[in-house]
Amino acid sequence: MTQSLEAIAQAMVAPGKGILAADESSGTIKKRFDSIKVESTADSRRDYREMLFRSTEAMKNHVSGVILYDETIRQKAKDGTPLVDVMNAAGSIPGIKVDTGAKPLVGATSKIETVTEGLDGLRERLAEYHKLGARFAKWRAVITIADGCPTHNCIHANAHALARYAALCQEAQIVPIVEPEVVMDGTHSTHDIDTCYNVTEWILNETFRELYFAGVKLEGMVLKPNMVIAGQKCAKQASAAEVAEKTVKVLKACVPSAVPGIAFLSGGQSDQAATEHLSLMNAIGNLPWKLTFSYGRALQAAALKAWGGKTENVAAAQKAFAHRARMNGLAALGKWEAKLEKAA
Ligand code: 13P
Repeated sequence: MTQSLEAIAQAMVAPGKGILAADESSGTIKKRFDSIKVESTADSRRDYREMLFRSTEAMKNHVSGVILYDETIRQKAKDGTPLVDVMNAAGSIPGIKVDTGAKPLVGATSKIETVTEGLDGLRERLAEYHKLGARFAKWRAVITIADGCPTHNCIHANAHALARYAALCQEAQIVPIVEPEVVMDGTHSTHDIDTCYNVTEWILNETFRELYFAGVKLEGMVLKPNMVIAGQKCAKQASAAEVAEKTVKVLKACVPSAVPGIAFLSGGQSDQAATEHLSLMNAIGNLPWKLTFSYGRALQAAALKAWGGKTENVAAAQKAFAHRARMNGLAALGKWEAKLEKAA
């Protein structure tokens, strides 16, 4: 039986649940493994991800879906079970990253700005991913704030590509995660929170305009935005309450209520800040959509460190992952408290 796009999107943002972003490209996962001095091989990547997907308590109760990388959706667990089956058995929906990366945008700002590629042949790739078990997909657009950036060309090119991707996903019965990310880290991250607000407002408005032109059904998608937050190199950091208030404000101004859910990226925030911000937003209440997490780093950092590439550490790493999943599950309900972190 095929589930409707709406039903899949609703399941992705079910109360108290969110998404695990485990779709690090080969380059990114190598960087993560370098940090724990583990060699990145097909087997070590499999072992690490299998460890996460077999964290049964976390997967069953708090992880509605997992974003996979092309290699992982085709991989088998050590005992020969396809990883997709491991996830399905835990009641977590398999998803797939389908963009092929952010590439320099031709023009005067090409050293700073990018456009995300991956539209060529996407229809055929989506059909294959659906056969492999993917029921949702992800495409990440990167918007950088710097002197004279973002340009209108960058905003427009990325929003247009997101909309073409989203329409192709829905044609293939796959729910698109639409991810326009205003980045908070890296070389160009001195902007303040209000600049982040303005740029987030711009990219969201442009994205929903393009989604409309492309005929995308808002009921069958999930938005994955950044929070409204100062850049990491900005001397003036906003309070958690201000991040929550300004993020909810921009989302209310730009995201139609037909969208079932918004699942944030963590973007370089600390584990606890990402959880606290999400919880404060949900505590504001009276929101037209679900607000939850689709974290990569903020869900995995503690588990990665506890694992360290060693089989004997699997239980400790799964415990660390389960803890973050539980904290974020509570945040998705607006019920997280700092004292629960210490109780772990
Ligand atoms: P972070 O939560 O680490 O930002 O990753 C989420 C993601 O999927 C970025 O595309």
